[in-house]
Formats: sequence, structure tokens, C-alpha cells
Amino acid sequence: MNASQNIQKNETRDLQRAYTRDLEDYLSKGGERALGSAYEIGRAALADGLGVLEMAAMQHAALAQVLQRVGSPASLGQYLDKAQEFFGESLSPYEMAHRGYRDAISALRQLNETLEQEIQRIAHAVHDEAGQLLFAARLAMSSVAHDLSPSLQGRLQEVGVLLDQAEKQLRRVSHELRPTVLDDLGLVPALEFLTEGISKRAELSIRVQSLLKNRCDPNIEIALYRVVQEALTNITKHARAKNVEIQLTNVDKHLHCLVHDDGVGFDAPSVLSCKERSGLGLVGIRERLNAVGGTLHIDSMIGGGTELLIKIPVET
Ligand SMILES: Nc1ncnc2c1ncn2[C@@H]1O[C@H](COP(=O)(O)OP(=O)(O)O)[C@@H](O)[C@H]1O
Ligand SMILES: [Mg+2]
Repeated sequence: MNASQNIQKNETRDLQRAYTRDLEDYLSKGGERALGSAYEIGRAALADGLGVLEMAAMQHAALAQVLQRVGSPASLGQYLDKAQEFFGESLSPYEMAHRGYRDAISALRQLNETLEQEIQRIAHAVHDEAGQLLFAARLAMSSVAHDLSPSLQGRLQEVGVLLDQAEKQLRRVSHELRPTVLDDLGLVPALEFLTEGISKRAELSIRVQSLLKNRCDPNIEIALYRVVQEALTNITKHARAKNVEIQLTNVDKHLHCLVHDDGVGFDAPSVLSCKERSGLGLVGIRERLNAVGGTLHIDSMIGGGTELLIKIPVET
């Protein structure tokens, strides 16, 4: 047992002692003060990382000790009701924390919705406004071309070709930002569209394999699309990979998505625990998944590639 485990064990023992003492106090004298101390013990236990099951064990041990000392009280039912009350009070910090967690998740969902609307606005602006400007530039160039010598006309044509490429690229990026195919046809075609573009731009082979039979909730589809988008951005930015595999399956009422690359890998635990080294991408992935009740597991080894396993509960 290491030093911190030792400290933790001592703290738990102290809490157990305080719990037993105050429970006994409450059972014999009642009163708000003893109930207040149940609340304080619950708060301390929560801060020490004790779970609800450990609290139940604490209640059980305390009650067993108190009953041993008291013997059989005249009204055992009343006695147990009071013990239950004390226990409930010690759990109320947990209840509050749980409520706070639920509020945070719902705020996160709302934030994601706002983010999606903003992305949609940018995608439209890029597609419509920038696209129209480029088109106008193209028209202006062809009207100027009449007044130029043939050699300058040739050079202007080259500029035109570049403008066409820029327009195509903008169109592609704006569709990837918020693909209508995601709403119309679902996750798998949207991922195929996304990976096709990234594959060409980054010279990377990306394979999407899906065993999904049905479409899922739109919130899950968009969350997973964003997660895979960020995972692929990381691969193109950091991994120096040649091949990427994306696999989608349903396992026990969960959607599993595996993103595997054969790149340089990284020391995930130390990157994740170090604020300066970890960017917003992986944190963003976790937050996206939190909002739909999903989880992320990262398996990476330096020199051995990276695998992200995403699990999201779904109704089947
Ligand atoms: N597929 C990957 N291959 C290698 N390294 C990765 C991969 N994904 C993430 N990383 C490492 O994890 C770090 C954190 O990633 P992320 O949170 O997305 O932040 P950012 O991309 O902004 O650096 C990256 O800087 C990189 O070192
Ligand atoms: Mg990133």
C-alpha cells in the first residue's frame, strides 16, 4: 500500500468513527445538530471520493455497532426509521452533486446545439457568400480578358483555374463542416463523404466499415460525426499515419466506433494529465460524448499507432 492509499484509509476510518458517534447521538437524543453532522460527514466523504455504496457500508457498520451497544431497543422500527433518516441526510450531498452533474450535462447539450447552429451559419457563409464572390471575380476576369493580349489572356486563364479550384475546395469544406448528407442519409454516408475529402487532401487511406442496421438519434449522429472529425484532424496533424480504419458496430445496446491509425502513437495518460500538452481536441471529444452519455477509451503506444474506442448508449 502506498502513502496516499494509507492516508485515504485513515481518512475513511476517521469518517467511520465520526459517523458511528453521530448516528448514536442522533438515535439517543435526536435533534438538528446531529442531522447536520450527517450532512457534513456526507460532504467530507464525497470530497474524499467515497461512493454511495461505501456510504451504505458505513451506515451498515455504524448501525451494527450501535445496536450491539444498545442491545434491543424498545421500539426497533422507530429506531431504524431514525437511522434511515440519518443515512438519507448523509447522502444529500451526493444528491446535490448528482443534480449539479445533470444540470451541467444539459448545459453542455445546449452549448453543443448553439455550436452546431454557429457551424451551420459559417458553412452557409463560406458556401454561399464566398462562393458567390469567387464567381463574381471569375465573371470580372472574363470581361477583362477581352482587352488583353493573347499571352496575358493565357495567364489570366491560369488564375481562373486556380479560382475554380479554390471555389471547389470551399464548397467541399463547407459541406464537411455541416454535411446535409448527415441529416438526409445518416452517419455512415456522411463519414464516407468526410473521409473521402480528408483522404485526398492528406494522402491517407481511410476505410469506413459499418455493421449498423438502423439510423440513430440525430444528436448521437452529429456528436459522433464531430468526434470522428476531430479524431481525423488529430491523425492528419500528429500521427504521420498511412492507414486509418473506422469501424461502427452495435454491441449490447451501445454504438461502438473504433478509429484506428497506424501512425507514431503517443503517451496518452501523460498527455491527458498534463494541461499544457493536451489541447482542446481530446477534451472536446470527451465533452461531446458526455452530452450523449458516451465514453472514450484511448489506446496508444509510441511507435504503435493509436486506437480510439467510443461507446454511446443507444435505443435499439
Ligand atoms: N492519432 C494521434 N496520433 C499521435 N498523437 C496524437 C493523436 N491524437 C492525439 N495525439 C496527441 O495528443 C495531443 C492532444 O491532442 P488534442 O487534445 O486534440 O490537442 P491538439 O490537437 O490541439 O494538440 C496532441 O498534441 C498529440 O500529441
Ligand atoms: Mg486536436
